[in-house]
Amino acid sequence: MATLQNTAAQNAGTSEILLEVDSLRTEFATDDGVVAAVAGVSFGVPRGRTVALVGESGSGKSVTGYSILRLVQPPGRIAGGRIRLHSARLGEIDITALRENDPLLYKLRGGLVSMIFQEPMTALSPVHSVGAQICESILLHQERDKSAARAQAVAMMEKVGIPEAARRFDHYPHELSGGMRQRIVIAMALVCRPELLIADEPTTALDVTIQAQVLGLIRALQREIGCSVLMVTHDFGVVAQMADDVVVMKHGRIVEQGPVRTVLKNPQHAYTRALLDALPSRRHHAT
Ligand SMILES: Nc1ncnc2c1ncn2[C@@H]1O[C@H](COP(=O)(O)OP(=O)(O)O)[C@@H](O)[C@H]1O
Ligand SMILES: [Mg+2]
Repeated sequence: MATLQNTAAQNAGTSEILLEVDSLRTEFATDDGVVAAVAGVSFGVPRGRTVALVGESGSGKSVTGYSILRLVQPPGRIAGGRIRLHSARLGEIDITALRENDPLLYKLRGGLVSMIFQEPMTALSPVHSVGAQICESILLHQERDKSAARAQAVAMMEKVGIPEAARRFDHYPHELSGGMRQRIVIAMALVCRPELLIADEPTTALDVTIQAQVLGLIRALQREIGCSVLMVTHDFGVVAQMADDVVVMKHGRIVEQGPVRTVLKNPQHAYTRALLDALPSRRHHAT
């Protein structure tokens, strides 16, 4: 089986890996003992490409995403392995070796790497306008005065398809539809042009009709910015639509990985086949 590193090398002619996750182990201490939510996971995300992390609920996808941003909170901890970002802007960063108060961590979070979180309610503050929240992200990572940040935020709102963006700047999250709110979250995540976007189930909470639009938006912005995407999902439909490579996770381990075309055509593992069988189109063919 080709590794993602090999795949990227074949495609780019050189090993253009942006993110390297090597034997990552992330544990939680519980009353029943230590649970390895991520139990030795290795994969790479090539520059400019999309890797999907797919698996059923509880397989360790979100914890992998949190680990990359060093957002795992006690009783959880990264217990082993290494995560490295080969940043075009800041050079090689050994994320797992950074101290909790290292200034690089703050440049990493929301600057070099941004994340769209799975829980839609935690992504936006209910007490600040959506425009102010996009500005906060700009002011944190770029040297701008307030009026320049506001102009940049409005331009970004237009770019993610918010009609009457200048007027909606002052709206609060509850005044927008779910689809519009997710567009704001995407604007916040991409306004600082990260090198990697981690999108954790970015469309799961949305109506089916809106899902395709939001995925299309992420793809269009990815192309424009040139960033890589780690797409976390339980849905092989999303994988097929979005990803170049796929990493299939089960119980904190990788059961299969490779180019999406190869895995879709010839899944090696029964678990992967079961995930594929959950696709409506496949179900249709099977009957
Ligand atoms: N805060 C926590 N405390 C204890 N265990 C946790 C915690 N968060 C996650 N886990 C464990 O990690 C596993 C994987 O969680 P998660 O990465 O959120 O799964 P996924 O995103 O694939 O649905 C869970 O099944 C659970 O056993
Ligand atoms: Mg999750």
